[in-house]
Amino acid sequence: MSSVLTDSEVALIGASPYKADFPLLSQNPDLVFLDSAATAQRPAAVLDAQRSFYETMNANPLRGLYRLSVEATQAIEAARTHVARFIGATDDAGAPQTDSIVFTRNASEALNLLAHTLPQVVGLGPGDDVVISIMEHHSNLIPWQQVCAATGANLVYLRLDDDYRITHAELEQKIGPRAKIVSVTHVSNVLGVQNDVAAIAARAHEVGALCIADGAQSVPHVSVDVRALGCDFLAFSAHKLGGPLGIGVLWGRPELLDAMPPFLTGGEMIDSVTETGAVWSPAPQKFEAGTQDAAGSFAVDACLTYVESLGMDAIERRERLLATYLCERLQELPYLTVVGPTDPTRHVGAVSFDVQGIHPHDVASILDMSNVCIRAGHHCAQPLLTYLGWHSTCRASIAFYNDKNDIDRLVDGLEQVWGIFNGSR
Ligand code: ALA
Repeated sequence: MSSVLTDSEVALIGASPYKADFPLLSQNPDLVFLDSAATAQRPAAVLDAQRSFYETMNANPLRGLYRLSVEATQAIEAARTHVARFIGATDDAGAPQTDSIVFTRNASEALNLLAHTLPQVVGLGPGDDVVISIMEHHSNLIPWQQVCAATGANLVYLRLDDDYRITHAELEQKIGPRAKIVSVTHVSNVLGVQNDVAAIAARAHEVGALCIADGAQSVPHVSVDVRALGCDFLAFSAHKLGGPLGIGVLWGRPELLDAMPPFLTGGEMIDSVTETGAVWSPAPQKFEAGTQDAAGSFAVDACLTYVESLGMDAIERRERLLATYLCERLQELPYLTVVGPTDPTRHVGAVSFDVQGIHPHDVASILDMSNVCIRAGHHCAQPLLTYLGWHSTCRASIAFYNDKNDIDRLVDGLEQVWGIFNGSR
């Protein structure tokens, strides 16, 4: 097989040294987990942190004046500082901008927060454009459909060329003077391609629009620096990075967060309340109504410490080799079509594919019998699949804890699936 990977690169993705850090993987050595784009596995460091929070500092954050409650509050604020550093949300002197980090339930909630509050800030109305791409996950699509339906603005889609790229010409044509909000995914959860957010943000700003990046599929796989991206907001979920389920992040430029009204209202997001009204706390507390997931924040902090101990650059290098190997091996199968770029080096984390004549649900269910986990369906990106002419696909997605053997097992499993349907096994 001619490969873009050298023998020594293939050797680098041999038996994973990282699986030992993940209890679910180390306790199930036969399991091949290739669905990390849906949710990653959790390292012991994250599980231990969650347990340790409840065993040693459990109290309602922000409300109590006693030690436990103060510690719970500190756990949230330490995580906020860590997240800010992790995504490069720093001021010119390099200090983390903690007021730019809002904790949400997940990336979807972060995007909903924006969809509910930004229209007021930018004065969105009939004749204005909200621009998204055709490769959006439903989380960054349905909220904008709703906004456009409510305000009379137009929803405009950036479309892809034959090579699954959003061209510069497309940006110039679709992001015009009517654009007020541009919201795009950094990495597609279906195609695995990475969009040039810096170029999209630059074009948005040229016409006076705000730019949002959905980092759900990029933050776990590539070093993300919000200053380098140049966008105004970034949304992502902790669970795709190995953090707990149920906690997400919205980063926003502090001056924009200041200008935005609250999304959810209630306890701890106010400075004062009277019978007839309330004065909001400054951001980020203005957006964090109710009791926050302090245990989750503590675990996010631990997750970032773990990831940083490996090094995001090292993670990115290993995952690029894994994704390349995955894409190459899949393309050796004559009955399989990769849905996305055929260039293996263009896949970040995920590769979607079709097995000729076999429904993706059947493929996934039969693979499960060999203990191989992939996702099958529309991947919560139905408009993209329709645009590309597919109803559903199979998707294998990797994280740094995978290895060559996982991918070889997937390919063996696919051969078995093909054999079952075509009578050779
Ligand atoms: N967004 C997740 C996925 O792509 C759920 O699978």
